[in-house]
Amino acid sequence: MPKKLNRLLITGASGALGSHCRKHLKGIAHIIRVTDKLKLRASETNQSEEIMSCDLSNYEAVLEVTKGCDGILHFGGQATEADWNTVRDSNIEGLYNLYETARINGCKRIFFASSIHAIGFHPLTKTIDDEAAIRPDTLYGASKAFGEALARMYFEKFGIETACVRIASCQPTPQNYRMLATWFSYNDLVELVKSVFQVPILGCPIIYGVSNNDRKWANNDAVKFLGWSPSDNANDYREKIAQEMEEPASTSDDFNFIGGPFVSFDIMKNTE
Ligand SMILES: NC(=O)c1ccc[n+]([C@@H]2O[C@H](COP(=O)([O-])OP(=O)(O)OC[C@H]3O[C@@H](n4cnc5c(N)ncnc54)[C@H](O)[C@@H]3O)[C@@H](O)[C@H]2O)c1
Repeated sequence: MPKKLNRLLITGASGALGSHCRKHLKGIAHIIRVTDKLKLRASETNQSEEIMSCDLSNYEAVLEVTKGCDGILHFGGQATEADWNTVRDSNIEGLYNLYETARINGCKRIFFASSIHAIGFHPLTKTIDDEAAIRPDTLYGASKAFGEALARMYFEKFGIETACVRIASCQPTPQNYRMLATWFSYNDLVELVKSVFQVPILGCPIIYGVSNNDRKWANNDAVKFLGWSPSDNANDYREKIAQEMEEPASTSDDFNFIGGPFVSFDIMKNTE
């Protein structure tokens, strides 16, 4: 893998994480190409940026958008629980289209924004690592588990390397008590993205996208080779959160499952 990518594709570039990374990864590639199903505005600061609208469920469009890219930062897709058709189109069809066209177009490295909801039913009784069994808490979580499996298959068969990043709660600041454990700062995200695209050999690791929180329950020892060490700590916001809200009961899902409230979502609600 070259130190600097030739062309990095950022999917979901209109979204929260995509638009942040778009602004903070300028040096990572000679050209950044941004895409989303929503209309994207031209960057005011990055004249060399390429903009291409595309719905991930449209194979021909994805084939075009991945052409000439040697890295993909994949944020595009349905980012929370929804009806099955929406999850399927964006996160199942969309993922297949992304990997298959990456293969055809010779792209060798992908950052896949997976989610802790792929393992949401694990009880919060011990620290978990990259060997935790898949235990999705929603259709959304199951779609992320599918994405991780697909990434692994394209690695074993075709050598496409993927960082499967189980993002917890990536927000500008932690918003509640649960996020004292799950917060992933924007700064730590950007540093992780840089490490993923700069490390000479990546493989296909599972990585927990969380900051260095006092209450964190995820163990990232398996990816020490990345040289990435998150520096932010949600505990710095503990007093602010305490002033703003009551701490939920210790019996609440927030404190008993990795997926928090997602474990109790009624997955049929969206399809009735
Ligand atoms: N923000 C978090 O805390 C968090 C936690 C876990 C996982 N993730 C994952 O990270 C990624 C980015 O999250 P976000 O918070 O920026 O979400 P977001 O909803 O703000 O952004 C997602 C973007 O994807 C686009 N998109 C949706 N379906 C598409 C399709 N079919 N074709 C093309 N574009 C499509 C949307 O228009 C949107 O701009 C998502 O995949 C999400 O599942 C985020």
